[in-house]
Amino acid sequence: MGAVVVLVGAVLAGCGLRGAGQEGGSSSYTLRLSHVVSPSTPKGQAALRFEQVVEERSGGRIAVEVYPNSELFGDEDELQGLQSGAVQALAPASAKFTTIAPRLQVLDLPFLFRQVDDIPRVASRDTPVGRAIFANPELARRDIEVLELWDNGLKQLSSNNRIVRAEDMTGLRFRIQPSDVLRAQFAAWGAQSTPLSFSEVYTALQQGLIDGQENPWSNIESQKMHTVQRFITESDHGYVGYVLVVNRPFLESLPPDLQQVVRDGATESARFNREVAARINEEAEQEIVAARTTEIVQLSPAERAALEASVVPGVWQEMAPVIGQDVIDQLLAERRR
Ligand code: LMR
Repeated sequence: MGAVVVLVGAVLAGCGLRGAGQEGGSSSYTLRLSHVVSPSTPKGQAALRFEQVVEERSGGRIAVEVYPNSELFGDEDELQGLQSGAVQALAPASAKFTTIAPRLQVLDLPFLFRQVDDIPRVASRDTPVGRAIFANPELARRDIEVLELWDNGLKQLSSNNRIVRAEDMTGLRFRIQPSDVLRAQFAAWGAQSTPLSFSEVYTALQQGLIDGQENPWSNIESQKMHTVQRFITESDHGYVGYVLVVNRPFLESLPPDLQQVVRDGATESARFNREVAARINEEAEQEIVAARTTEIVQLSPAERAALEASVVPGVWQEMAPVIGQDVIDQLLAERRR
C-alpha cells in the first residue's frame, strides 16, 4: 500500500519516480535540476554539489540530473516546467520570479549589498527580507518550496560606451532580466531597457540590438560577452542571487528520509556555493582582463557614491508598493547602521 501511495504521489508530481532498469539504473527517483548558466559559474558549481550530495546521501536512490545552459528549459519556460512537474528543481535569479512572486525582486534593488558577505545576515530567514524569500505566500500557493539562496555575486555594467556617471547611460539600450526594479533602475539612469532571456544576450550584443547589459563577472566571462563589449564598469551596483526551489508535490512524494536528504543537499550546496562564488568571480574578472578585449573602468569612491545616490533611496521607495514598505524600511535602517 505504502509503495502505491508513493508511486501515485510521484507520478502526480511529474514523473519523478522510475523503476529499476529504466534510464538511470537502480535509482528510485529522478530529480531534474535545470538552469541557464555554465557549469563553471557559482550556480553551475552549486548545482553539481547538490547532485553529488543528494546522490551520495540517498545511497543512489535519488538520481539527480543537472541540465545547464538552458539545455532543458530556459528563462521563458522553466517556471512553467517546474509547476507542471516536468522538472523538479530550479535556481532562477530572483528577477525571474517577477510575474509570479514580485516581492522576490527585493534582491534586485540597486546597491542593496555593499559586499556579498552581508547577504546571509540581511536575508536570514527571520528578517523581513528573508521572509519575503523563504516564506513567500505566492510561491507556496503554486506548490513551489524555497530551499536555499545561492549567490552569484555583484553585477558590473558592460557596454560599448564608457560609463562613469549616470548621464553616460542616457539613451543607451540595456538588456535586463524581466524585473520592474531593474526597469526602474535603468529608467532612473535615463537609459532604455529590454527584457531578454539570458541565452539571447550574447547574440543581441553581438548584433548591436542592445548597447549593454549587467551581470557578475562569471556570467560575462562564461558567455564571452566581454568579446562583444568595449567597456566594463566595475560598478558592483547590484546583486545576482538564486532562489533554489523545488516542486513541493515531488518533495512530499519522497519518503521522509529522502526529503531530508534533499534538504541537506540544498544546505550543503549553499554552504559550498558561498565558499566558491567570490573566487569564481575573481578568476573570471582576471580572464577578462587577460583577454584584452575590453577596457575595465574603475570608479572612484565619489563616482560610485554618485551612481548610488542616483537610485537610492529613489528606486527603493518607488518599488515599496511591490516589495513591501516593511522590507524597504528594514533595508533603509540597515544602511544607517
Ligand atoms: C541573467 O542575467 O539572466 C542571469 O543573471 C542569469 C543567471 O541565472 O545567472
